[in-house]
Order: sequence, then structure tokens, then C-alpha cells
Amino acid sequence: MTTYMTGFGNHFATEAVPGALPVGQNAPQNVPFGLYTEQLSGTAFTAPRSENRRSWLYRLRPSAGHPPFTPLGAAPEWAAATPNRLRWSPQTLPEDEKDFIDGLQAFAGNGDPLSQSGVTIYLYAANRSMTRVAFDADGELLIVPQSGDISIFTEMGRLDLAPLSIGIIPRGVRFRVERSGPASGYVLENHGAPFRLPELGPIGANGLANSRDFETPVAAYEDRDEPTELVQKFGGRWWTTTLGHSPLDVVAWHGNHAPYRYDLTRFNTINTVSFDHPDPSIFTVLTLPSETPGTAACDFVIFPPRWMVAEHTFRPPWFHRNVMSEFMGLIDGAYDAKAGGFAPGGASLHSCMNAHGPDVESWRKAVAAELKPHKITGTMAFMFETRLPLRPSAFAMASPTLQSDYDACWHGFPKAEGPNSAS
Ligand SMILES: [Fe+2]
Repeated sequence: MTTYMTGFGNHFATEAVPGALPVGQNAPQNVPFGLYTEQLSGTAFTAPRSENRRSWLYRLRPSAGHPPFTPLGAAPEWAAATPNRLRWSPQTLPEDEKDFIDGLQAFAGNGDPLSQSGVTIYLYAANRSMTRVAFDADGELLIVPQSGDISIFTEMGRLDLAPLSIGIIPRGVRFRVERSGPASGYVLENHGAPFRLPELGPIGANGLANSRDFETPVAAYEDRDEPTELVQKFGGRWWTTTLGHSPLDVVAWHGNHAPYRYDLTRFNTINTVSFDHPDPSIFTVLTLPSETPGTAACDFVIFPPRWMVAEHTFRPPWFHRNVMSEFMGLIDGAYDAKAGGFAPGGASLHSCMNAHGPDVESWRKAVAAELKPHKITGTMAFMFETRLPLRPSAFAMASPTLQSDYDACWHGFPKAEGPNSAS
């Protein structure tokens, strides 16, 4: 049972063994228990204080002691960008043995890891624990479990995740995903600056995802002198080397570049109490601002259970065309703008300026609905909304789960009566 420390982006201090954490300075000449000191910087040394992320780790061996890395497997292949709306049925769970890294399948991406910009979106499906340890130099990982609990043993502590919670592993932090049975979900690899909480503006000091509900694990380590594969993602592909010991050997650490988790059911959903449909930005859990004010490089947005009370209003999302590109997934239940076809574990991509919205059946129901207060329950959809259009992967475009008839859900809308109908 892991103990967690609460708060978003706090400077935490934690030790797995009493007395292991140096007091009053970061890099003493001699560290308790003879541990090695290492600074892990998630932002430039000179980043403003409010943005600065770094942690000090005290470990059994310095990370620097390792043989060269060699390429592992092939980098994902990318298909041509397409304006077409895409939707995938849930992926099938693997029949052969796959750990979390084997089971990561790139679906869409923009930007470039070597430019430290943009995102890569994956679906994962795994059925065994990792024995190797991984880290991602290309970005932080936002993990969204859809089925199966996973436990992530990071070098900074254990993060237990279940569907309806999310986990963040910061850039560079080493981890091993443990799971005995099948587990699947979504991963966003954020190549840019770390995710942060959105500003609340006129909402005030409280609401949406509250800082106190973010949980960072206390220090935990293993002392294991056995050959251990260490893989890293760097420059858009995986690399491997083998150590003579487990690198999950951090006995104590302090700082704010640290893994965390968040229970999506704690999201304080804010919605209209009069009329109309607020933009989905009101459901933003985490955001990553771009250099354009008010325009996110990526927002992580959820559509949780909530009351719908809008008067004389079409309640599902209306038709829209958006400069931002929208990659959606469904963790649980159904999504209110689609009558079918968008199943838990599935995904959809609506790219820049390409029209979408309710399907015919959802539209018919919504225009005829009696507008009583109504609670949407048993649902959790999410969206990765990105500033740059997303290019699908070759795998995603060739997948048998890609629905060839997705466009059909918008066929059959009758022509509006229109102003000339009476003549
Ligand atoms: Fe949309």
C-alpha cells in the first residue's frame, strides 16, 4: 500500500529509510549511507521559479554508470496527414506476451521529440509485467488506464493506477509497469514543457481539478544486483542497454520533478445553470500552454458524469469546426454525442477545421428531448486537444479496428425547413 503526498507541483521531501535525506543542503560531501547524489532537471536551470522543475535523488549507484545504448526495434512509421474523420473500435488484447513497452502502439502525433514540441498519442495493451526498466527522454507520459489496474514502480516511488485515474511520469524518470493480467489504455507523450493546471480565471480559487487531489508517491527503492535491461525513448525511437543492477535504487529524494496520479472522479465539474453549451475547455484537467496566449499545445479534457440542466438548449455538443485537433478516447460508458460506434477502449480523431458533432440518432433525440434536469452517469470520455494537426501512424491507418463507415453516422440529416419552404 503506497503512501502519497498531496498537492500539484509541490516541492516534496521523502525518504524510504529514516535519515537518508540530507538536511539543509542538496549536495553534501558525504551523503547518509554513502548514497550518490544526482540532480534530475525537468526544465532549464534558469526557468522562472514558477515553471522550474527539478529533483535531487540519493541513490545506491550513480545513473551515469552504464554501457552505450543501442537501437531497439523500429521507430513508428507515420502516414500522410488526412483531413478525414477517423474512428477506431477498441484494440484487441495481445495473445502473445507483451509488457507495457511492447504493448505501446503509436496512433497519432504532431511536432517532433527532438524539437521538444508536440505530442505522440499511443494506445497500450499489455498482459505481463515489465522486467526491464524504462525512461522517456522524449517527454513526460500521461497514462490513462482503460482496463486493468497497473502499478508503476518509478525510481521516485510506486504509483498505483486503476481505470478512472491517470498517472504522470515526468520526462527522464525511470519506471517499471507491473501487471499480471491484461491491461489497456491510452498514453500521451508530451514532448514539450510539463503539463500544469489550467488557470481558473473568473471561476475563482477553487474548481476543476483541485491541487490537493494530486498524489505523489513517497520514496521506495529496490536493492537488486541482477542484470537489468534499461530502455529509453530518445529521438522518436527506443534504445536499450543492460545494467548489472536495478536502477530503481533511489533511497530518498526531494523536489518537484516527480510522478503523480489523479482520480478523475474527483474532478469538480462546472457547467451551465442557465442555457447553452459551454466550450469543452471548462472540462480541462491539465494543460500545456503554447507560445500563443490562450492556445494550448495540448489540453487533457474529460467528460465526466454531470447534471445537464440547460433550458431551451440542445444539450449534446452542437456541430462544430475547430482550429484545434481533437483525439478522443472513452474510458467508461457512452459519450453523449454518439448513439453507437464509439466504444470504451476506442478512439476518434477530428482534425483541424473538419466538421463533426452529434450523429443523426443523437441529434433526433436531442431536438425532441423533454428538457428536465438530467444526470449523465456511468461515463468517462476524454480528449487530447492539440494546437497542431495530428498525423496518424501507419499502424493506425492499417488497423482492422479503423472504421471504414465512420462518415455514415452524419448521413441522413434532413434539409432544414428553411425560409423558402412556405413559398
Ligand atoms: Fe469536437
